[in-house]
Amino acid sequence: MSCHNALRKVLNWATAIFHTDLLRVTSRRLASATKTRSITTMATVTEEEECMGNVKAQLAKLFEASLRVTIPNEPDVEPLVAACGGKFGDYQCNNAMGLWSKIKGKGTQFRGPPAVGEAIKNNLPSSEMIESCSVAGPGFVNVVLSKNWMAKSIQKMLIEGIDTWAPMPPVKTAVVDFSSPNVAKEMHVGHLRSTIIGDTLARMLEFSKVEVLRRNHVGDWGTQFGMLIEFLFEKFPNFEDITEAAIGDLQAFYKASKQRFDADPAFKQRAQQAVVRLQGGEDKYRRAWAKICEISRTEFHKVYQRLAVHLEEKGESFYNPYIPGVIDALTKQGLVEESQGARVIFIEGINIPLIVVKSDGGFNYASTDMTALWYRLNEEKAEWIIYVTDVGQQQHFDMVFKAAKRAGWLPQGDSSYPKASHVSFGLVLGEDGKRFRTRNTEVVRLVDLLDEAKSRSKAVLIERGKGEEWTEEEIESTAEAVGYGAVKYADLKNNRLTNYTFNFDQMLNDKGNTAVYLLYAHARICSIIRKSGTDIEELKNKGTVVLGHKDERDLGLHLLQFAEVVEEAFTNLLPNVLCDYLYNLSEIFSKFYSNPECKVIGSDVETSRLLLCEATAVVMRKCFNLLGITPIYKI
Ligand code: ARG
Repeated sequence: MSCHNALRKVLNWATAIFHTDLLRVTSRRLASATKTRSITTMATVTEEEECMGNVKAQLAKLFEASLRVTIPNEPDVEPLVAACGGKFGDYQCNNAMGLWSKIKGKGTQFRGPPAVGEAIKNNLPSSEMIESCSVAGPGFVNVVLSKNWMAKSIQKMLIEGIDTWAPMPPVKTAVVDFSSPNVAKEMHVGHLRSTIIGDTLARMLEFSKVEVLRRNHVGDWGTQFGMLIEFLFEKFPNFEDITEAAIGDLQAFYKASKQRFDADPAFKQRAQQAVVRLQGGEDKYRRAWAKICEISRTEFHKVYQRLAVHLEEKGESFYNPYIPGVIDALTKQGLVEESQGARVIFIEGINIPLIVVKSDGGFNYASTDMTALWYRLNEEKAEWIIYVTDVGQQQHFDMVFKAAKRAGWLPQGDSSYPKASHVSFGLVLGEDGKRFRTRNTEVVRLVDLLDEAKSRSKAVLIERGKGEEWTEEEIESTAEAVGYGAVKYADLKNNRLTNYTFNFDQMLNDKGNTAVYLLYAHARICSIIRKSGTDIEELKNKGTVVLGHKDERDLGLHLLQFAEVVEEAFTNLLPNVLCDYLYNLSEIFSKFYSNPECKVIGSDVETSRLLLCEATAVVMRKCFNLLGITPIYKI
């Protein structure tokens, strides 16, 4: 099949998916709207519909039904529901004002937004979720959730597991392109950020039952390999037998070969020929290239192993064979033009074009990314492709995505699928406010950084006398959980676009918004349950949750909001949203637990309160899991 046909196929496929999805949604809507109108003038929502999705989505369904009945002439108005946490209610529907501006002057029976709000409230289908509703100000409809329903939902989660609270995104397959360091170059803190952020996003999608292709788009191709290969031949005539140890530091090796390249014209010439021979597929050159990649890979692996991050390598070289076909197809579509000897794609609104073939005829970073995007859409059938790199590459991805839209690979808007998203992030700074570096080396070795976080946490454990209490293995695993967790959390808790300062003392502090504080909070809850001497699994089925006290209800409400927060975090690609949720959860739990009126052990609602402790621990653990942090159970 020619590449052009393949492209057309992917385009058709994409359009088909998109339309089927749209149709499915529309027909579901139509069905429920018709049903509503033909059976009764009161809005209805079936029980099955009502139980789908998170609390916000469930309420939105009820409000949607009400809107269809309240203002039948505006069938496209979507329900606007948000958590509010004020004294008037738990959630609020904010449609009245917008609706009013649509219908006023068109012979409506309503007299202003409050009346519209009142009608929305009155037309709400009855539901066991809702305890009461009220209209405030210019038509806000406030909802107070039913305590019984809340308690039942929490108990259901305890029995059936946290997976019942998993979000339901509209995609089946996603690519997360993250970490992606370059062979023989430094794996710097930017790559660490990409690894941590990308892993979390992948985890959230996986939890939501999306098949995630975790792609390590390693920079394993390019003209620098000619120089590296020649240098390898020179230094190690028996290069096949050498080990990582012989080469030592691959970055130093890179530097030395670069020096040689710049200083000796004969070497330079050999290096340039080496590139040609490598690209021509000559065996010895391929093997030398593979050796260099392998040594780099071992180095990268040390970081991944510590962070327990799993990635599947499909480096730049993987896409090489597909590049000519893709460029060909784009050329036939009339997208590729000649400019100053290079072949480029012009993009509206950007003054530099995307170069897809260099003036020497070679391919570059952009040719590879266009091809990788094509491959992911066409061969891997990904509906959402997420790239995690520092903000410096924003324009590159902007151009690649816009070129893909021009080619018809992606729909014009960003609200439909397939979709490509660039997740960019800011710098990691040192104490001096400059780009993070250590005293003696130019760049920070990531492995050293992680090892230091671990050894500092270990020192604290020893200082606290855990050396006598715990086994060596327990000390090691706890030090790792706390140390690596601290590094990850310090990164994830900030909005990814802001630069942040790397500071061990801060991230390893056991007070404030740190992983250490949160991990300890979780361990404390586990110890409350252990000390109660009850069998918590048995309690889940035998006991009942009641949310009698305000602090219990606040905690219950926050627990129930877990699913919508995860959904918000991955929809907007913002892991800090989940960190905020987790930190608030531990604060709300503390308020409950430290209130003498909410005594757990020995109170007459001990069972219910223990179940609330357990539910908090379960949700905290899931948050840790989604953030790539290993929980600890005792301190
Ligand atoms: N290797 C690149 C770098 O270190 C990141 C690659 C990101 N992924 C991509 N598909 N371009 O900057």
